[in-house]
Amino acid sequence: MPDLLSLLLAVLCLSLAGLLLRSQRCPAAGPGGSCRRYSVPGSGFQLKKWAMRGVLSLAFRRRRRERGAATARREPLGSGAGEEAAFSAAPGGQPGCGAEELERPQELVCDAHALDSVYFTGFSETDKTFLITRLGRRLNGLCEMWLFLRVDGIGEFEHPVHPDMMVSDESEKCWHGGGLMIECLEPHRCWKIQFNGQLRKGPYRHQWNEEEGELVHVKFSFHWTSFSDIFDFNLDSHPKVFAHAIALEKWSPEFFQRVKKDGEQHSRYEQWGQSLGEIEIEGHEKKEVSMRGVRSHSYGIRNWAEIYRYVMILMHCEDGTSAHFTIICVPATTTHLTVGYVLFPNGKKAGIDWSNASLAEIADDGIIRDVYQVSFTAGGQFFEVCAKLDKQAHPVVYNGLTGTGVFHECIADFQLNRTVPGWGLVEFYYRDAVGQLIPNSGSRWKETSIPASSQFTEEHSQCTSDVGAKEPS
Ligand SMILES: *[C@@H]1O[C@H](CO)[C@@H](O)[C@H](O)[C@H]1NC(C)=O
Ligand SMILES: *[C@@H]1O[C@H](CO)[C@@H](O)[C@H](O)[C@H]1NC(C)=O
Repeated sequence: MPDLLSLLLAVLCLSLAGLLLRSQRCPAAGPGGSCRRYSVPGSGFQLKKWAMRGVLSLAFRRRRRERGAATARREPLGSGAGEEAAFSAAPGGQPGCGAEELERPQELVCDAHALDSVYFTGFSETDKTFLITRLGRRLNGLCEMWLFLRVDGIGEFEHPVHPDMMVSDESEKCWHGGGLMIECLEPHRCWKIQFNGQLRKGPYRHQWNEEEGELVHVKFSFHWTSFSDIFDFNLDSHPKVFAHAIALEKWSPEFFQRVKKDGEQHSRYEQWGQSLGEIEIEGHEKKEVSMRGVRSHSYGIRNWAEIYRYVMILMHCEDGTSAHFTIICVPATTTHLTVGYVLFPNGKKAGIDWSNASLAEIADDGIIRDVYQVSFTAGGQFFEVCAKLDKQAHPVVYNGLTGTGVFHECIADFQLNRTVPGWGLVEFYYRDAVGQLIPNSGSRWKETSIPASSQFTEEHSQCTSDVGAKEPS
């Protein structure tokens, strides 16, 4: 995700690489199938990678410095703890944008693919309970919603809208749709996740079905508190992995334009934390639950149609290590980019700088297996990760906006370096999966979002008044 400086320098490299470029393979993802879907090192790869590494290291360093300076101006000494805090206080797009502003719902930019999404996962480390929620605000009062729950000893539950994901957006002050509400109480520190409404009892559906299934009333409320620093993909990622991904591709001025644009239009930051709260399921006793997991906030422009495939691993280990590992194929820019990070138990963070994983070898045929193993390095350490996917917990969502894409959210047990257990998930996205299109998905979201059930009575909630105002009390 280089900026202007890198673009200019890259063009320089381009002329430097001169002859080498002419003998390059054909671009990836060409129609006709004569070319590879995922680019592999061609001639001149090492030279290109080396040049990009220099360029990108400078660009990242400059970007961090700008961000640090902007934050320092806004937040005078005393409000943070040193330079790390200054960085982490301002993730996301624009330098100078404070934590308060970033943790609020973002104004949707004027683009058909504008997105403002928050995502929370939580895994109990003592039993099989987990929760996955996501609300992604889109234009026209729509929201992409995910809600998957499993309560140990009771069963699996999902929102009745699934495997579709569109509901209506019900608030401007926080993320709220389909009975789910996600709001920030204290930037980079505390969030609240609440649901009150009907969920469908599992097993998770992979196909659309007219049958409503068994709907039960579920209510939960979680208080999420961070235990890690923020990782901002635009600032904290390791330049080496971008250099590698860019060096795999055929270079042209248009290619660098697309890479630059792609990097500018989307921001994402993540943080790990603990959720404490209660789940109340109709016909069962109220249950207190403690879970750990990641939250992410991603915003800007996200056109799902541009992403051919990705595989994302999110895990938290018993020793306190958290990690995010993604391999993604965007045919117009980089067809094989590995990106991610490790948050170490001592609080340090490091971008992943190498991995042996290959999209071609991970469920490329659309068949998701039970076990996946990848290796990567970050912060000078080597990690070997083994994910054992849980067959019972493999929910699916169809992409309501494109109609064809499908997300597989596979809950997994992890082993780090063959010894340390971990909890988390492996998410697979396929753009061209020929899923069963959801009938009348355009109108269905209206009936399935149930504002009447969204009665939140908790205090300290900015959104409560907002919600309450719509309710006869
Ligand atoms: C990557 O490393 C893991 C574990 O070290 C191994 O099981 C896996 O086969 C390797 N993958 C590739 C593509 O070489
Ligand atoms: C994992 O094991 C390798 C040796 O196989 C070791 O070098 C590395 O430091 C270990 N990583 C962690 C995070 O413990």
